Amino acid sequence: MAKFLVNGGRALEGEISVSGSKNASLPALAASLLFSDAPPLFQNLPEIEDIKRMKELLQSQKDGRFDYEVAKKIRASILAVGPALARFGRSSFPHPGGCVIGARPIDVFFDGWKAMGAIVEKTPPSGKKPGFLAVSKPGFEELGGVHSIPIYEIRAPQGLRGCDFTFRVPSVTGTEGLMMTAVLAQGRTILRNVAEEPEILSLADWLNKNGAKIGGAGTHTITIEGRGGKLLSGQVPFLAPPDRIEAGSLAILGAIAAKKMTIKNFPENELTALLGVLKTARAEFEITHHDHSLFPSITLKRATKLRAVNVQTKEYPGFATDLQAPYTVLATQAEGVSMIHETIFEGRLNYVEDLNKIGARINLCDPHRAIVHGPSNLTGWNLEGPDIRAGLAFLIAALVARGESQIGNIYQIDRGHEKIDARLRALGADIKRMEA
Ligand code: EPU
Repeated sequence: MAKFLVNGGRALEGEISVSGSKNASLPALAASLLFSDAPPLFQNLPEIEDIKRMKELLQSQKDGRFDYEVAKKIRASILAVGPALARFGRSSFPHPGGCVIGARPIDVFFDGWKAMGAIVEKTPPSGKKPGFLAVSKPGFEELGGVHSIPIYEIRAPQGLRGCDFTFRVPSVTGTEGLMMTAVLAQGRTILRNVAEEPEILSLADWLNKNGAKIGGAGTHTITIEGRGGKLLSGQVPFLAPPDRIEAGSLAILGAIAAKKMTIKNFPENELTALLGVLKTARAEFEITHHDHSLFPSITLKRATKLRAVNVQTKEYPGFATDLQAPYTVLATQAEGVSMIHETIFEGRLNYVEDLNKIGARINLCDPHRAIVHGPSNLTGWNLEGPDIRAGLAFLIAALVARGESQIGNIYQIDRGHEKIDARLRALGADIKRMEA
């Protein structure tokens, strides 16, 4: 497996630009199934592994059936199911894979599709393949390294009809998935208690420019006037907005490791919670607006004395769970005690044990809460990136640590961050990519 070799402690200096948003691009790609045969164009997509997997998934699709081997690799494969169901009246897919950050159920998708008239089965009709797929999984070696994941078959024999559906939890991809499904349904759909993340608004705005009628995206209630099966025509390309999570992670890096670092294409309005926390932590930064660009830039310097701040992850516009691990690294450099409260995913603090190995002082109180005692001197060590965001957090930690670190399993980092090693090298970071 490829790894990064990082020589930490170098002050970063220069400019870096934020890439296109992963989590806005994935549902937009999935939505291409809603379009007539002239597919829409996509601009500014990030060159990352998850986008490649989504393209492979869409290419593997035949009449709503997805290649199980491809689909099981990414959690975001679930995003393509709604559009496939809406277009072909059926879909089959395995339980989606992805990050090891919690149970990540898909019940709200099923509840929504059922409310639109679909039938969901775990085992396909008799005589067909069994409803479980054998997959290799570390830890299951004693069983031959294989375990089973369910396969679902979903059909809408009478067609999909608009419905009034309230989300049990405001799932981001759940909102996107049901919104896309409803675009081709018969009649009006009202989705309540939906997620309000900016990626949903970006998707709805683009679909509307191509003929959809979606109102309320970005608020807690979305109304969709269904097109009764009439496909969209892809006249307006999708332009991926800057990735707010990458932007926020880079800002955190700048606040602890920069001599003077400017982040261009910085979606300030989507990062108000993080910026508020950074301000309270006494981070040093300045935001500059430009006439020639839609987005401002932010310039950061390593603060002389960062102060501990408690952080609680929340749905948008709250502090994003995807910024929690990078922020915890900042907390290890701040003076005092920071409580990190992860409210969205139950497995998203598992990485703290690894930060302790490199010199952090973090007590994991329970799966949702960690207490960070700072400041700590971090020293180089070998770490394995467990998921996209904790992997990047380890890279940030390695950049501030003294000495050499090795970060393994960097596929996880590459899933969500375009050429991150080369872009950070341009800021003076000492990072080498060692191919397996
Ligand atoms: N949930 C359910 N049932 C469902 C769906 C979700 O109980 O059917 C629960 C989850 O277990 C979780 C909560 O609802 O406790 C919120 O999860 P959500 O469904 O919103 O997460 P997601 O849509 O699977 C997206 C992002 C994640 C990001 C979360 C939260 C994409 C492709 N993924 O996931 O991004 O962490 O929203 O903001 O948009 C990442 O980019 O690294 C990443 C994990």
